[in-house]
Amino acid sequence: MLTKYQIQGGKPLHGSITISGAKNAAVAIIPAALLVDGVCRIENIPQISDVSLLLQILQELGAEVRTVNRTTVDIDCSHIRNRQVPYDLARKIRASYYLVGALLGRFGWAEVPLPGGCDLGGRPIDQHVKGFVAMGAEVDVRNGLICAKIPNGRVAGGQVYLDMVTVGATMNIMLAGTLAEGMTVIENAAKEPHVVDLANFLNSMGANIMGAGTDVIKIRGVKRLRGGCYSIIPDQIEAGTYMAAVAAAGGEVLIQNVIPKHLECITAKLVEMGVEVEELDDAVRVKRTGMINRANVKTMPYPGFPTDMQSQIAAVLCIAAGTSVLTEGIFDSRYRYVDELRRMGAHIQVDGKVAVIEGISSLTGAPVHACDLRAGAAMVIAGLAAQGTTEIDGIHHIERGYENLVGKLSGVGADIREITVEDGELQTHVG
Ligand code: EPZ
Repeated sequence: MLTKYQIQGGKPLHGSITISGAKNAAVAIIPAALLVDGVCRIENIPQISDVSLLLQILQELGAEVRTVNRTTVDIDCSHIRNRQVPYDLARKIRASYYLVGALLGRFGWAEVPLPGGCDLGGRPIDQHVKGFVAMGAEVDVRNGLICAKIPNGRVAGGQVYLDMVTVGATMNIMLAGTLAEGMTVIENAAKEPHVVDLANFLNSMGANIMGAGTDVIKIRGVKRLRGGCYSIIPDQIEAGTYMAAVAAAGGEVLIQNVIPKHLECITAKLVEMGVEVEELDDAVRVKRTGMINRANVKTMPYPGFPTDMQSQIAAVLCIAAGTSVLTEGIFDSRYRYVDELRRMGAHIQVDGKVAVIEGISSLTGAPVHACDLRAGAAMVIAGLAAQGTTEIDGIHHIERGYENLVGKLSGVGADIREITVEDGELQTHVG
């Protein structure tokens, strides 16, 4: 049985969409609960499969996880009895690497399967390892596991200068340093909103982390974290994805529960492309009635244009007036979706990290594949703008990071539904 999204394109979007909690904050904050002695109540948790997997992993380790309501869970890691992270669960997601920092910080010992996640070219973890080693750990990789151990049992502070700006290593070192014996300093740290959110979560439970959001983060180790309540920030990329959807399909949508400051890098580019964006206190109103202008886009660490919005903006630029140049500044290879957009008539040439997009008047619907999470979001955006029917398979990738995408888009007038196909035959329509 195969589940797909089916989209009848060409319908402008009107109404409002409420953004869920940030995936890339949630997937670090849930492992961070391992450091807390007591119950953490985490609010604004997105209902996505990466989050369910991490909650399941914590339960397998012996955490008590209680669902309070649709977006709130209580996690109690006071009585962790098992430190063997289940291999099959952990290797499905990238964020399982945060279990290394969290377990090392709590127990001085971690064995975690090498992470999975989207295939974006090489995704080494050498900077995570460099950080753990600077903090006194012995680290090696064997039998598919990252094995990290502190000989005397408690992480020492350390000084780490990251060779490149990396979100994952910055957050992982923060996790390992929270309960350390001394001070940890991360230089050339990532400044993404979710880095700040993790620091705020840990500080609200009693950690002493300074400078998150700047390129130097100082973590003064504390003896213990106590329980508390924390609400995750809204998802910058989910909001940006719906902003791009309005740009592509046309119409006017109020995107609610956002932090407009986090969206500025996306807003500025959309405005340059001729989209109207009005910033309100905790919402942005996005409107597109005329043509889309061409634009050049280069992805960079925050506050630059996010790599996680590269494919969605490419889908919009496919129907812009003129030729646009897109440069991927973070990953080696994030253009696997280009072949799928070409099926819809897009004119795109890729050379290494650069894609040249020659705008056409309209895309045409086609059967396409979501090859990773954001590539899948790009297919949805292209399908909304295209003439005719688009069917997207590989939607489990999309469900890793977007809560109720079909419901949210249907709510603003998109003709999108989930269909289930068996043996090549259409079986049921889910709505
Ligand atoms: C995180 O990935 C996000 N994943 C990605 O989100 C996001 O694209 C990326 O940060 C950049 O913002 C999660 O939060 C789970 P990095 P991560 O470490 O941590 C190189 C999405 O769509 N590098 O910031 O893997 C690396 O190869 C996903 O939501 C090393 O060389 O990214 C890349 O070129 C996909 N050695 C660059 O640094 C290291 O040890 C930045 O990677 C670590 C990274």
